[in-house]
Amino acid sequence: MEKITVVGSGYVGLVSGTCFADIGNRVICCDVDPFKIAMLRKGEIPIYEPGLKELVEKNIEAERLFFTSEIGDAIEASDIIYIAVGTPMGESGEADMRYVHEVARTIGQHLNRYKIIVNKSTVPVGTGRAVEQIIKENRKNRFVKFDVVSNPEFLREGSAIEDCMNMERAVIGATSDEAAKRIAELHAPFRTRIFQTNLESAEMIKYAANAFLATKISFINGIANVCERVGADVTAVSAGMGLDSRIGGKFLQAGIGYGGSCFPKDTFALSYIAEEAGFDFNLLKSVITANDEQRFVVVNKLREALGSLQGKRIGVLGLSFKPNTDDMRYAPSLTIIPELVNQGASVRAFDPIARQAARNQIAEYYEDFGSIEETLEDCDACLILTEWSEIVEMDLTRVKELLKAPVMVDGRNCFTTQKMADEGFNYYSVGRPAVTVGSIHAVESQTLSL
Ligand code: UDX
Repeated sequence: MEKITVVGSGYVGLVSGTCFADIGNRVICCDVDPFKIAMLRKGEIPIYEPGLKELVEKNIEAERLFFTSEIGDAIEASDIIYIAVGTPMGESGEADMRYVHEVARTIGQHLNRYKIIVNKSTVPVGTGRAVEQIIKENRKNRFVKFDVVSNPEFLREGSAIEDCMNMERAVIGATSDEAAKRIAELHAPFRTRIFQTNLESAEMIKYAANAFLATKISFINGIANVCERVGADVTAVSAGMGLDSRIGGKFLQAGIGYGGSCFPKDTFALSYIAEEAGFDFNLLKSVITANDEQRFVVVNKLREALGSLQGKRIGVLGLSFKPNTDDMRYAPSLTIIPELVNQGASVRAFDPIARQAARNQIAEYYEDFGSIEETLEDCDACLILTEWSEIVEMDLTRVKELLKAPVMVDGRNCFTTQKMADEGFNYYSVGRPAVTVGSIHAVESQTLSL
């Protein structure tokens, strides 16, 4: 059992802290926001994440999980301090390190005995060393020792608990072997692979992993754009590519580009880090540009399908950047909906969970509805932006009845083209042949073992 304090009760801090408590540690989650802390103490969760509420309640009940805004006291009471505060995007794309540095100062001021300071926030290479320096400068007693560890987070929103409980690897970079060993032991109940390296490499692994996944997405989106011009089907192409274990089938789903709290921010930050270090990372810059451009693919498809967007009513399904989250950060809908309106369309939209979050950002551009039915009524076309299960499983016959004409543009390739041909839709997806009523359709690809 370790005594752990997690500073920053946002997405990463809250999930990691709760999971550490669940495997038997005593965890104090802190935040500067007293309202958030008051909510959490009652077991109310400020974000939407499947399974998190139950796990928080269970661990509050078991007296393993505590919440406070008294950060100094919480630091003094624990032996392992996780820093999990935000590193938002600064003006030039760099990671804004203000909050991390502030926490390091507070840790220094409250360093009452040996502690291990672990960084979970995504931070530029060199931050671990900077944190070490700030703590040294701020500690009251210079004989009190401490170690700094980088232990980056790889969890995905929407499946964060599962990702944390079944993590594929724990990357640990430390200033001492003993500290690395203790953090490795902390992870033992997760039965995960431990990858130990130095501080700088651990910090770099997080950026490199996210930038690589973003590259896979921009690459397959580029392939999709070629596929639809030459009569190929990108779903078959990614499935075929993915059978090569050197490539792997994951993160090859073509669509409207990545969004969320990590990929956009981290690709920008890495590009900035490279530039500062004297390397012009052109490949990564292209990944970012390609991602920005990919959002407009569905707008163009809609315009082509309808002749013009002027005066057309579009029913948008899905607003969050991906299913099972209410996170709207860098969601493609934030760019696509205003663009539809710029081109003269009026927009009605539905999202099962992100309604409020979306309204906070682009309310002036669309009318918001509580169901798919209400949204699509009398629309000239349906546009899918997020592959929520409600949307993938919706009754297509009913959708056809509601729309003025059976026109659907699908930014997430939710349905097979065969199904949409059978249902009688004019269906335009990403990287696959368009289906128009009356068009003869090709057989879906399959893998046969001979
Ligand atoms: C990501 C990383 O996966 C995680 O390891 C890291 O800690 C944080 O960033 P997250 O942003 O929650 O997690 O979502 P993820 O499921 O990775 O999807 C990111 C974006 O890429 C979404 O917008 C998704 O729609 C898009 N995506 C993903 C694709 O367009 N195609 C794919 O094949 C996969």
